[in-house]
Amino acid sequence: MKLILLAAPGAGKGTQAEKLSANFGIPQISTGAILRKNIADGTELGVTAKSYIDGGKLVPDDVMIGIVTERLKEDDCKNGFILDGFPRTLAQAEALDKSDVVIDKVLTIEVDDAKIIERLSGRLECKGCGTTFHKLYRVPAKEGVCDNCGGELITRADDKPETIKNRLDVYHTQTEPLKDYYKAQGKLAVAYGQEKIEDTTAEVLAALK
Ligand code: AP5
Ligand code: MG
Repeated sequence: MKLILLAAPGAGKGTQAEKLSANFGIPQISTGAILRKNIADGTELGVTAKSYIDGGKLVPDDVMIGIVTERLKEDDCKNGFILDGFPRTLAQAEALDKSDVVIDKVLTIEVDDAKIIERLSGRLECKGCGTTFHKLYRVPAKEGVCDNCGGELITRADDKPETIKNRLDVYHTQTEPLKDYYKAQGKLAVAYGQEKIEDTTAEVLAALK
């Protein structure tokens, strides 16, 4: 299964990719997580990416295409993968189509903007392993501590109200048109985000059948 998750910020790409990765035994490739790791490690890429991410803007296409092309060549991608956060522009989608990677399905998760703002405002993310929690919807067993690795839970720098608004604007103008691009290829599957994470997982699995 070579799958793309194409959905708005906060729609639950990361949350559902974690479930699908366990379910299908294929890696989750989150471009956002790769960039945040580089920011934390202070790499050259991290320094470049930070200014874009903090403003809610997209990192330039050539940078992202290079990162993903290299990542997909790794051994663990042989039997499939879940792309979480790539492609996000027409240029990225076209670059993927020009490579020798053949995508099976593109899954979108529909969630309205008001719900997204509520979700991102309450999100917590593990500084160590990147697992996502929520103050109301996915509460960690111990406050401030990751259930998965014991790491510290923090609020992402781009989850400030004004940055969330920019990210949503970027999604609607630059990324959402890709739904039509993949619909025309007969690859688009649609799931509707539910109030509970496990109900959304059921929707997602049904949409992928
Ligand atoms: P990225 O990290 O991909 O961020 P994003 O697309 O904005 O998406 P999020 O990670 O914020 O949301 P999500 O859909 O994963 O939702 P989550 O599962 O956490 O990218 C960050 C930045 O990197 C970009 O802005 C850009 O600058 C740059 N970048 C990355 N890729 C790029 C590319 N290809 N090109 C250019 N630039 C790129 O869920 C959200 C919250 O809701 C959580 O707290 C969760 O617990 C909760 N939740 C989830 N589902 C439910 C539910 N059903 N009910 C209740 N709560 C739920
Ligand atoms: Mg995510």
